Amino acid sequence: MIDSPLSPSEIGAAPVIVDAPHAPLVNVRGLHKRFNETEVLRGVDLEIGKSEVVCVIGPSGSGKSTLLRCLAALETYDEGEVRIEGELLGYGMRNGRRVRASQAEINRVRRNVGMVFQQFNLWPHMSALDNVMEALMRVRRLPRDKARARAAMMLETVGLAHKGDAYPAKLSGGQQQRVAIARALAMEPHIMLFDEPTSALDPELVGEVLQVMKQLARDGMTMAVVTHEMGFAAQVADKVVFIDQGRIAVQGKPREVFHDAQHPRLRQFLQNYFDRNAFWSRGSQEGQT
Ligand SMILES: Nc1ncnc2c1ncn2[C@@H]1O[C@H](COP(=O)(O)OP(=O)(O)O)[C@@H](O)[C@H]1O
Ligand SMILES: [Mg+2]
Repeated sequence: MIDSPLSPSEIGAAPVIVDAPHAPLVNVRGLHKRFNETEVLRGVDLEIGKSEVVCVIGPSGSGKSTLLRCLAALETYDEGEVRIEGELLGYGMRNGRRVRASQAEINRVRRNVGMVFQQFNLWPHMSALDNVMEALMRVRRLPRDKARARAAMMLETVGLAHKGDAYPAKLSGGQQQRVAIARALAMEPHIMLFDEPTSALDPELVGEVLQVMKQLARDGMTMAVVTHEMGFAAQVADKVVFIDQGRIAVQGKPREVFHDAQHPRLRQFLQNYFDRNAFWSRGSQEGQT
């Protein structure tokens, strides 16, 4: 019996804290998502452990973005479970039945999930610093001076301490994406979701963004990254997940997925990729040894 100052009825009303220190940070079970008649996710099971980096690869339209968006509660899902740090996202139980959670409850469960998109979505009329400060003041309710100090620190983390006053139009795509990463990091997420963060960038700007992401991974950030940067995935991922037609077809360590691919659709996917990037496989094999 827990020695608690709360009355039994108060204990009953308190949120259920799942005391499971070894539980995965993200736990997805039997996830299904439909858009009208189309079933886009068809039973996804995925665990992401603390400090784990999971790279998600797969053909266009296979459901990669939808999966990440479900983890960030930007989409509702139809069946299955998404748990963030043990807590069910999007739904609650009432009288033994599953019901949609309130927006406030959804926001509470996903408060530690940060997301970075292909399009950086910065406010064009705000400086880099103001872009990073905005949610700190509006969502986290930090006073301006505290928000400014934290935003400045985050810009420094992504190598842009000197660009605080610059407006997005004056920044390169790579710099804008780094501001977007700083903005997400400022909220002190426990996990960062990246949806093709370098796909909108000119090739010569990809490296600076991947560098920031590698540093985050080294610092122990838990990350799920949808990417076509196979070299990055090979170097940084603890686990690579291949999604095909709304299902995880293959998952494993990068070496297993990239070099020992047995699954026919994965082989085909990688083959198409290698054909377009003929020089890559040599570089990655050198990187692996
Ligand atoms: N809001 C939406 N409404 C209807 N269909 C959607 C919507 N978002 C995505 N889809 C469809 O879901 C499928 C998976 O999309 P998506 O998750 O974006 O794939 P990926 O990121 O792997 O390219 C695609 O067929 C896409 O057209
Ligand atoms: Mg996508």
